[in-house]
Formats: sequence, C-alpha cells, structure tokens
Amino acid sequence: KTGLITLDPGFGNTGACQSGVTFIDGDQGILRYRGLPIEQLAEHSTFVETAWLLINGKLPNKAELDQFSKRLTKHAPLHEGFKNHFEGFPLNAPPMAILSAMINTLSSSSCDGKLHEDDIDDLSAKLMSKVRTIAAYSYRRSLGLPFIYPDPKLRYVANFLHMMFSMPYEQHIASQEVVDALNLILMLHADHEQNCSTSTVRVVGSSKANLYASCAAGVGALWGPLHGGANVAVLEMLEAIHEGGMSAAEALALAKDKQSGFKLMGFGHRVYKNFDPRALILKRAADRVLGRLGVQDPLLDVARKLEELALIDPYFVERKLYPNVDFYSGIIMRAMGIPTSMFTVIFAIGRMPGWIAHWKEQNHDRASRIARPRQIYIGPKEQVYTPMDQR
Ligand code: SDX
Repeated sequence: KTGLITLDPGFGNTGACQSGVTFIDGDQGILRYRGLPIEQLAEHSTFVETAWLLINGKLPNKAELDQFSKRLTKHAPLHEGFKNHFEGFPLNAPPMAILSAMINTLSSSSCDGKLHEDDIDDLSAKLMSKVRTIAAYSYRRSLGLPFIYPDPKLRYVANFLHMMFSMPYEQHIASQEVVDALNLILMLHADHEQNCSTSTVRVVGSSKANLYASCAAGVGALWGPLHGGANVAVLEMLEAIHEGGMSAAEALALAKDKQSGFKLMGFGHRVYKNFDPRALILKRAADRVLGRLGVQDPLLDVARKLEELALIDPYFVERKLYPNVDFYSGIIMRAMGIPTSMFTVIFAIGRMPGWIAHWKEQNHDRASRIARPRQIYIGPKEQVYTPMDQR
C-alpha cells in the first residue's frame, strides 16, 4: 500500500496495477518487453518470437518457437461457417468493427472461460492467427474480392500479405523487405504497458471474462482516433500540409495556435517526455524500406522537415513533445501498399500478444480482483423528488 494507491495485480479499486510485462521509462525513452530492450528485439527478433516472449515471459527455445509457429499455421483458417458472418457486414464496414465482432464470435465456440495452461497456449495462438485472417478477409470483402485461404507453407507475416494481396490466378509473393518491415511494425506495436486499450483488456478480463471477449473490448478502445487511429491522422495531416502547399514552419505555427484546432499528430505522448524509442527505430526504417522499395514519398520529406523544426522550436521543446510511434509508421505502411483503412487493424494485430500477455498475467498467473476504480463525486447534493405537476 502506498497511501491512496493499493497496488495489486489487477486494478482493484484504483487506477494502478502491478505488471511484469513491459517497462517504460518516459523520461529516458526506454521501452523493454520482459526486460529486453526494444532496440535489441528490433535488430534480432521477429514478431512471432517477440509475441511468445511477451506471453510466456522469456525468449522461446527452438522447440517452443516451432510449436508456436505450428499452432499459428494450424489455426489460420476460419471455420467455413464464420465466413458467412462477413456477408452480414456492409461493404464499407470499418475493419475494426468487423475485427471486434468476429473476435467475439470466436468466443462463441472456442473458449468457455475454463482455461488451463495448455488451453491458454493454444487459445493465444488461435487468437493471434485468426485476427490476421479476419483482417485480411475484411480487406478483401471491402473490395469485393474473393477470400484467399491461408497458405500453410508461409510464415506469419508473409501469409497475411498473401491473404491480403494474392488473387485466385496469381499468388502475391511479398518481397523480403516488405515482410521485414511489417514484422518490425508489428513487433514495435506488440505491447506498451497500461495504454488505453491494454487497460481496457485488463479491466474487462478482471471480471473473469474470457480472453476473446476481453481482447474484442481492446479492439474497441484502440479504434479511437486518439489511440490506434493516430497513424491514419498523421498521414492525413501530412497530405493536407503537402497538398495545401503549406510549409513545415506554417504547419508548426498552426499546431502552436490553440485556436486553430490543429495538432501535430504523431507528436507528443502521455508517458514519453523524450523520444519514443519506437519512433527512432521507425524513422531509420522509413529511409531503409522506401529506399529498397524504390519509393519516393514527398510525405516523408514533409515529416522529416516537421521533426527537424519541432525539435528546435521552444513550444515543442518546453512541452517535451517528440515524435511517437505513429509519426513514421503510416509512411512505411503506405510504401508497402497497405491502405490507410488497414493501418489501425495492423496496430491491433501487433498489439494482440500484449493484450494476451496482460490478460494471462492477471487471470492466470496471479490471483487478481475485479477492477473497481473509484471517483471524485461532482454531482448535485441530496435532492427531493418533485411531482410531475411541479416540474
Ligand atoms: C498512441 O498510451 C500509449 O502508450 C499509447 C501508444 C501505444 O503504443 O499504445 O503509445 C499509442 O496512442 C500514441 C499517441 C498518438 N496520438 C497522437 O499522436 C495525437 C497527438 N498527440 C497529442 O494528442 C498528445 O500529445 C497526447 C494525447 C498523445 C499526449 O498529451 P499529454 O501528454 O496528455 O499532454 P497534454 O495533452 O496535457 O498537452 C501538454 C501541452 C498542451 O499545451 P499547453 O496547454 O501546455 O499550452 O502540449 C500540447 C498541449 O496543447 N500538445 C500539443 C501536442 N501534444 C500536446 N501541441 C501540439 N501538437 C501536439 N501533438
């Protein structure tokens, strides 16, 4: 107990919880998954290996990684009956709405809440694998294209790109650069401590709601433009600046003018008061990926100029506003041919292992209590009931 805050594995009756999944030092710009610095994982690991690390608390050995990969492959297809659910969505249904609905639908047949170790490993792999298929199918449906079945010969990211972009008459073979870039983006989004959507998963899971229902709630929270939707807002901002013929200096002036309603999207962070280490990694990746793909994107030039000026502008320096994970991720995904409609869904696919790890930590690894945050009441004092003819 530390004064008002009672630290326990769940949220208990406060807004704080204990967790051993991810460590962030906002002042130093440090991010570690289970103690491993994000920079080392970005250099040496893959999204699937990092997912196993987050869920199980340590790096997998070869046998563990092979078993996890086999489970991801096994669970990639959707039950044929589930595919019919897509027919009920309008063609322009937001992919995040489909993802949340379909994850909940999975819980209608996959897990009864009575979990033990083996179930959790299999359920985790099933959820991670099926969200990839659901996401790809939602994209295909939005274009009126036939669903492409997962290919058991392909690894996680390549299979997703195959289901997104192949055609019945021609298989899409993603370049290694694109596969590596998407691996990196998913890995960098895999967890981030008690952000809005992860806290949602923990609060919902604290009632002993099953894994799928809890993660479906996380999708809803991530859908918000202030959270997972920020990467789309960054691109829209960069396009408005570029197409509007605005200079970077003019855009910064707007961002500093509170009356303008214009924010420098992709800048600032509730916790980081230094560089978001993910942004530094993505900034380097943007150059590398666009160079290897031979993509010249004027929006990257706009982003770099904005960053260059903001880092020396007193308004941003005094408020410790630095680029966050969203500032460069959209530019890289656009260069890879991923439509903006899928940016937040890609974020959700990346964040899934983090949500699973937090749900597991709270619901399985340690006994925790149902979340019950308190409030400061600011409503009216006691009132007397007024009959209708006196109102
Ligand atoms: C994500 O929690 C997570 O970990 C989230 C995430 C994850 O991985 O899950 O990291 C992912 O959601 C990243 C954040 C994406 N959002 C954006 O990029 C939107 C733009 N950023 C801002 O909305 C804002 O920076 C926040 C909300 C992210 C953080 O704001 P804070 O820390 O609460 O700071 P604040 O809103 O209190 O602002 C402090 C000052 C204010 O000015 P003053 O009142 O002091 O004059 O800084 C200003 C703000 O107006 N400010 C900005 C700004 N962000 C803050 N001014 C211009 N542009 C900005 N982007």
